[in-house]
Amino acid sequence: MAAYSKSHALMRRGADFLGSEHAILCGAMSWVSERNLVSAISNAGGFGVIACGAMNPELLDAEIAATKALTDKPFGVNLITMHPQLTDLIAVCGQHGVTHVVLAGGIPPKGSVEAIKAFGGKVIVFAPTLALAKKLLRSGGDALVIEGMEAGGHIGPVSTSVLAQEFLPALSEDHLVFVAGGIGRGEAIAGYLEMGAVGVQLGTRFACAIESIAHPAFKKAFFRASARDAVASVQVDQRLPVIPVRALRNKGTEAFTAKQREVAGRLDGEALEMAEAQLQIEHYWAGALRRAVIDGDVENGSLMAGQSVGMVTQEEPVQAIMAGLMEQCEAALQRR
Ligand SMILES: Cc1cc2nc3c(=O)[nH]c(=O)nc-3n(C[C@H](O)[C@H](O)[C@H](O)COP(=O)(O)O)c2cc1C
Repeated sequence: MAAYSKSHALMRRGADFLGSEHAILCGAMSWVSERNLVSAISNAGGFGVIACGAMNPELLDAEIAATKALTDKPFGVNLITMHPQLTDLIAVCGQHGVTHVVLAGGIPPKGSVEAIKAFGGKVIVFAPTLALAKKLLRSGGDALVIEGMEAGGHIGPVSTSVLAQEFLPALSEDHLVFVAGGIGRGEAIAGYLEMGAVGVQLGTRFACAIESIAHPAFKKAFFRASARDAVASVQVDQRLPVIPVRALRNKGTEAFTAKQREVAGRLDGEALEMAEAQLQIEHYWAGALRRAVIDGDVENGSLMAGQSVGMVTQEEPVQAIMAGLMEQCEAALQRR
């Protein structure tokens, strides 16, 4: 399509890899990225990704089947590497012939990448450092997402702009790199494409689309918020390395600090092993996010959101958000 000629030229490798029209992924968002949003993204020419989160294999099986019923376009599945049933979840993806699996939340355990490849699936990985990125791409990762600390949800310590300058010159010639975190408009997409990215991943901008099942109160909180309301959680105890989470400030943010103190206290008393302590923290987030997204408890639940939340001002169809991003990207590239 001539309308987005410059954008599509720069996105070509990414779009060919994904099998989508535009190389724009909607990053998996637990509870939000289910059949409705995922199929809407793929139907709008982007690439939707189901958030498996804490789902068991039966639930994932049903979600993939339901998504397939709503779109004949490709979509992916995001699996959290520390999920105790990771092997079974990969098998479910294989049974459905899922084309792309995103492995998030840590270094993929031994055998997981191979198991995905065995059924012909492509593997998308995350890496916080260049050295680890190279290692994962050498050992079977087909594409990489670099995600800066502007993003919503679990974050690393480095900004998207710095990660892009560090990773893209080193990797973009030989590898497929998608950039995520803090992208709210197409001009930013144009910038990362020019730096060598083959595409981008957004979460926050799509979370409140009409097709998103997030509770109206959750969406309203997003519409009201500005960038400075999306804050990273604070770690209270050196011994309890908690991965920071970016979310809108509310009572739940304070409750999380209290939860960490409680878990740290139990570590002190040796009533708890470290691995169990960290798992408890992760369960806390999954439960808190559900309370906000599904139940609409925006006071006590977790309103995970990136700094681009200030650019989310109204409920729009996915198709309109996607078209807006592509038009802005193309206009920026045409001005060069
Ligand atoms: C509400 C919410 C939930 C998220 N849940 C997950 C998740 O379960 N797994 C994951 O890998 N990333 C998760 N993310 C991160 C997104 O997939 C995406 O990478 C991120 O939102 C991109 O940055 P942006 O928010 O600045 O657009 C979540 C983000 C949000 C806003």
